[in-house]
Amino acid sequence: AWPLLAIAVGAYLLGSLSFAVIVSRAMGLADPRSYGSGNPGATNVLRSGSKKAAAATLLLDAFKGWLPVALLGWFGAGLPPAAAAVAGLAAFLGHLYPVFFGFKGGKGVATAAGVILGWQPLLGLAVVMVWVSVALVSRYSSLAALTAAVLAPALYLAGNGWLWQANAAVLMALSLMGLLLLWRHRENMRRLLAGTESKIGSKKK
Ligand code: G3P
Repeated sequence: AWPLLAIAVGAYLLGSLSFAVIVSRAMGLADPRSYGSGNPGATNVLRSGSKKAAAATLLLDAFKGWLPVALLGWFGAGLPPAAAAVAGLAAFLGHLYPVFFGFKGGKGVATAAGVILGWQPLLGLAVVMVWVSVALVSRYSSLAALTAAVLAPALYLAGNGWLWQANAAVLMALSLMGLLLLWRHRENMRRLLAGTESKIGSKKK
């Protein structure tokens, strides 16, 4: 149990690095928590007008989800398969509830993508493709994330046995991540239903 706990804590601390805030600070931009949706995430950083800052946020937030899972894949021989599930979920929780930022984090989309790419690269690609397709058609980042979150567990099960061997712990972590992601988007869902959600790249306030 000790290695599992250490893995969870390490991944949680890594996930707690809110790159929207860190990148914005490093680039001399306003704090993303002070404009737009107020969310420390790539979508909101894009509203600052800096595509570079948004891209860096997206990549780094995804990377911090992918890394702990990848490290376990390389060096975690002998650990139960549940370790990868725990590591990914812990990084995701760090992003949502970061210890370094008063537990006020983001919505988890980029980090979840990184985690899933770590768990199962093909599933990650499929989920990213769902996000991109919905985003291209609707121009709503939140709607794309919600669709991808709902479809991810179904896609994981659909590929079981021929594309990969599904694992119960990963399936549970994937589902929990999806539920938390929906919960974090409750304001977005309200805005989508009310027709007031802002589209990708449109600046707000
Ligand atoms: O990445 C989060 C996205 O799905 C919504 O972000 O800033 O529009 O609430 P935002």
